[in-house]
Amino acid sequence: MIEAFIFDLDGVICTTDEYHYQAWKTLANELGLEFSRAKNDRLRGISRMASLEIVLEESKIEYSAEEKVDLAEKKNAIYRKLLCNIHPEDALPEIPETLKALRERDMKIAIGSSSKNTKDILGRLDLLDIFDAIADGSDITRSKPDPEVFLCAAGKLGLEPGVCAVVEDASAGIQAAKAAGMLAIAFGGDAASDPCADKVITHPSQLLAL
Ligand code: BG6
Ligand code: MG
Repeated sequence: MIEAFIFDLDGVICTTDEYHYQAWKTLANELGLEFSRAKNDRLRGISRMASLEIVLEESKIEYSAEEKVDLAEKKNAIYRKLLCNIHPEDALPEIPETLKALRERDMKIAIGSSSKNTKDILGRLDLLDIFDAIADGSDITRSKPDPEVFLCAAGKLGLEPGVCAVVEDASAGIQAAKAAGMLAIAFGGDAASDPCADKVITHPSQLLAL
């Protein structure tokens, strides 16, 4: 019996996955590197530093640890400029209504995201207070596919993993949900084609029928 839904943020609650893509592409192109949509899919759900390693895969230059920190900060600055455009209307279709309806059914709802920008984004969307718990990039040391962020969210909710369902657009997030012992629900992204997903939805309101 499911008692809680743990939502990924980027690509599930809002389209900030597109802003991540644009920011990484800007940085990669400045460094003379190609950056494709396929490569971007590999960055879904994983941390900023781990993403940078993938972005730099084809680079002929060996960057020092310090230079990598600077590059990750540069990407985040580009990304944060794009976040200024986010308003409550930018939540994905059906998300605010579905969150509200789940709460009305006494379901707990939480965020489980690798992003350190989570609370800023939820504030801009006017969705900061609707969640019972938020676990984000500041709470964890290992990003998805490690289950840490989802176990942290379940812990904050005071629930066992087995009664939690995860909603994800990242294949890394589906792997993390399964490793946590949770139901894994794919919603868009590369999660939708992951054979490990327990369910695939195309509209958030489908969660109400589970
Ligand atoms: C995840 C995104 O939600 O957060 C990743 O899917 C991103 O693409 C990660 O790298 C970390 O985000 P941030 O905002 O801390 O750079
Ligand atoms: Mg995501």
